[in-house]
Amino acid sequence: MARLRRFSWLGLLLILAGCRQDMHDQPRFKPLAMNDFYPDLRSARPPVDGTVARGQLNADTYFYTGKIGANPGDYMPFPVTEDVLSRGRERFNIYCAPCHSRVGDGNGMVVQRGYRHPPTYHQDRLRQAPLGYFFDVMTNGFGAMPDYASQIQPRDRWRIVAYIRALQLSQNATQADVAGQQVPSAAPKFEEPGSGATPPTTLPESSYTGEEQK
Ligand code: HEC
Repeated sequence: MARLRRFSWLGLLLILAGCRQDMHDQPRFKPLAMNDFYPDLRSARPPVDGTVARGQLNADTYFYTGKIGANPGDYMPFPVTEDVLSRGRERFNIYCAPCHSRVGDGNGMVVQRGYRHPPTYHQDRLRQAPLGYFFDVMTNGFGAMPDYASQIQPRDRWRIVAYIRALQLSQNATQADVAGQQVPSAAPKFEEPGSGATPPTTLPESSYTGEEQK
């Protein structure tokens, strides 16, 4: 018993000796606190000139600005696939449709409640606008429209650009652009209009376009 007691006293002594506060109270600056160690009195230091934070090299200027020199360019920085367009549609419907509407005519829900009416995408000026222009509007905003640079990553902004161009084509298509479908497409006919809680059931398209059902 005596040996045990001696042992535990020794143990306690060792633990106390090892228990220093250094690791607990490490020297640090509170965020944005003043500090007179530096001549400009700021504890938060600007990055050293010429350094680039990981993931922020942004060497491909066109990809990050949509511009070539001072002017918007008119090509996509990566190929447009079906995945690119469907992601573009998803992002567009989340971030742009509330004002620009899902078809891009500017009659979004926010606008119907009194926000400034944006111009429709389906006018010659915007149909002819280069792709980089749309990227730039999202990146820097335009007039009353705020920018979406912090909400939408550059790659998604480009996907939205591709989808807007698809929207413009779809809203300005001619009979020659689409084989085997009526332009403009006929309004669907309902078998059951739906109650609001249940979706409407539509008749097959062939029954009102006069086409053979395939
Ligand atoms: C909060 C409403 C709102 C949202 C959301 C919004 N916009 Fe706009 N947008 C506007 C308004 C308003 C204008 C017209 C601004 C003006 O003329 O001052 C505009 C204008 C534009 C224009 C036309 C610029 C021109 O040359 O006439 C483009 C292109 C555009 N928006 C793209 C987008 C895209 C892409 C998104 C989604 C990332 C988006 N907008 C989201 C309100 C919105």
